[in-house]
Amino acid sequence: MKPKIGILISGRGSNMAALMAAARAPDYPGEIVAVVANRPAAPGLAIAAAAGIATFGLDHKAHDSRDSFDQAMHEVLVSAGVEFIACAGFMRLMSDGFVNAWSGRLINIHPSLLPLFKGMDTHARALEAGMRVHGCTVHFVTPELDAGPIIAQAAVPVLPGDDAGALAARVLTAEHRLYPAALALVASGKAAIIGGRVRLEAATDEAQRLWSPDLG
Ligand code: GRF
Repeated sequence: MKPKIGILISGRGSNMAALMAAARAPDYPGEIVAVVANRPAAPGLAIAAAAGIATFGLDHKAHDSRDSFDQAMHEVLVSAGVEFIACAGFMRLMSDGFVNAWSGRLINIHPSLLPLFKGMDTHARALEAGMRVHGCTVHFVTPELDAGPIIAQAAVPVLPGDDAGALAARVLTAEHRLYPAALALVASGKAAIIGGRVRLEAATDEAQRLWSPDLG
């Protein structure tokens, strides 16, 4: 039996859609069984529902504390049989209790080459810093924001004339390739946290393409 995966979103869900598309392959090492949004109107929920995946719109505004919302989310995920969680544009801080309950099984994609540019507005900040290379990172979630062990990264060039939108679009294309590969590493047990860092079982060829793991 493949491990069951839940996805957390807040908005359009393009990374969620990329994960769903990848997971349709018969040899993908996980099955997406639930999509949870903290905004019931999140457009990604309709995409998931149309694909036949169970969706849950849980309005965080209906809860008077972060713990209460996170507990509701936890119960939905557990009752769906979820074993791994992928945050995909989930724009809400999670309580330490939730993060610790899912330790080693909760991952996120962030649109920068961490540890650079934690937090918001990463593309504008990369341009402001004069970066020549930018990208995205998939990491395990720990209580400290955007600071968990790094699983996979992909780099893209910063080109003359880029504005934040153009750079975001280039990074997003990389996100859509990187995230399914990184989730597969985690769901298949090939990415282990050892001494606070991730050791990949699979051989990689990152020097060739500035992707780690190698996406071919
Ligand atoms: C992505 O850039 C992701 O890295 C960031 O938020 C954006 C979500 O986009 N955390 P989408 O909802 O997956 O299209």
